[in-house]
Amino acid sequence: MNLFLEILILLITIIYSYLEALVKLFIPAKRKSVSAEIVLITGAGHGIGRATAIEFAKHQSTLVLWNISKHGVEETADECRRLGATVHTFVVNCSKRDEIYSTAEKVKKNIGDVTILVNNAGVIFCADLLSIQDHQVQNTFEVNVLAHFWTTRAFLPAMMRNNHGHVVTIASSAGHIGVEYMIGYCSSKYAAVGFHTALTAELSALGKYGVKTSCLCPVFVNTGFVKNPSTRLLPILKTKTVAQKLLDGILTNKKMIFVPSSVRLFLFLNFILPERVLVALNKLQEIKFDTVIHDGKEE
Ligand SMILES: NC(=O)c1ccc[n+]([C@@H]2O[C@H](COP(=O)([O-])OP(=O)(O)OC[C@H]3O[C@@H](n4cnc5c(N)ncnc54)[C@H](O)[C@@H]3O)[C@@H](O)[C@H]2O)c1
Ligand SMILES: *[C@@H]1O[C@H](CO)[C@@H](O)[C@H](O)[C@H]1NC(C)=O
Ligand SMILES: *[C@@H]1O[C@H](CO)[C@@H](O)[C@H](O)[C@H]1NC(C)=O
Repeated sequence: MNLFLEILILLITIIYSYLEALVKLFIPAKRKSVSAEIVLITGAGHGIGRATAIEFAKHQSTLVLWNISKHGVEETADECRRLGATVHTFVVNCSKRDEIYSTAEKVKKNIGDVTILVNNAGVIFCADLLSIQDHQVQNTFEVNVLAHFWTTRAFLPAMMRNNHGHVVTIASSAGHIGVEYMIGYCSSKYAAVGFHTALTAELSALGKYGVKTSCLCPVFVNTGFVKNPSTRLLPILKTKTVAQKLLDGILTNKKMIFVPSSVRLFLFLNFILPERVLVALNKLQEIKFDTVIHDGKEE
């Protein structure tokens, strides 16, 4: 096509998108039904994963819950069953590719094709670059990003075949902002955000518009994941609030879900404010949590 024409169409698309967004401010977004979906959640035994399972159970979805240990798994499952969901549980160590692939085969054979995949399992080792141990860096990347590759490669083919499905990445605001003494975690979450963004682009390029993607990026959540978090400006979120925002985002096919939504504004400021101001802003926030910091002495 003529370049001039394409640019003209682009401008019209921009205007149309803003008008559409304006109209949507006043009419509530349509929510899709998930009662017929098979929803798989990794790290479903605790925290956000567990709360998300409970939210899906309220919608009568079929749940496939993965957790690293058997301990207490029936508890979450029973709670979901009481809410009307069918629940299956599996013990899977997401650090292990073979275990992910073999369990995924079992799920496909015995339960069916997963239509909503929630990659939630995550780990964190708070320490600076010189204090974090090699195996901790490795484990962080295995669980926080590599596992997303293995689970998604296992379940995406059926979603693409049916042009129906949803891949959900639980990342973090730390996947957009570099936080001191969280270097292993931040880099793995930047990778998870990259995974989500590139997957979204791929599905669009391949014309698989029925396969949706969402990425959740909250600030601190009170799950005990980060020990003793505190900040001056940001709230420490409640697990249930985060799970509800996530569900809402999934049901409306939202691509990027920031909790709180003001994180988006903060990121924009990050792009435009001078370096000096950003350093001052960071100081002002007084982000604190339990961490290991190298004292600079030679070992
Ligand atoms: N809590 C926060 O402040 C916060 C903020 C932003 C993002 N997140 C993200 O939310 C997700 C859930 O975290 P949470 O706060 O609910 O913490 P959590 O510790 O309560 O839950 C993490 C879950 O992952 C599971 N898990 C860990 N390693 C695993 C492995 N090798 N194999 C299988 N499962 C494994 C744990 O058993 C647990 O069920 C994580 O990806 C985390 O990075 C948390
Ligand atoms: C999941 O595994 C974690 C870590 O071992 C454990 O603390 C939690 O109780 C387990 N929960 C379920 C529901 O299996
Ligand atoms: C999970 O796998 C990793 C890497 O193989 C291992 O270090 C860890 O101990 C395993 N965790 C459990 C609970 O089995």
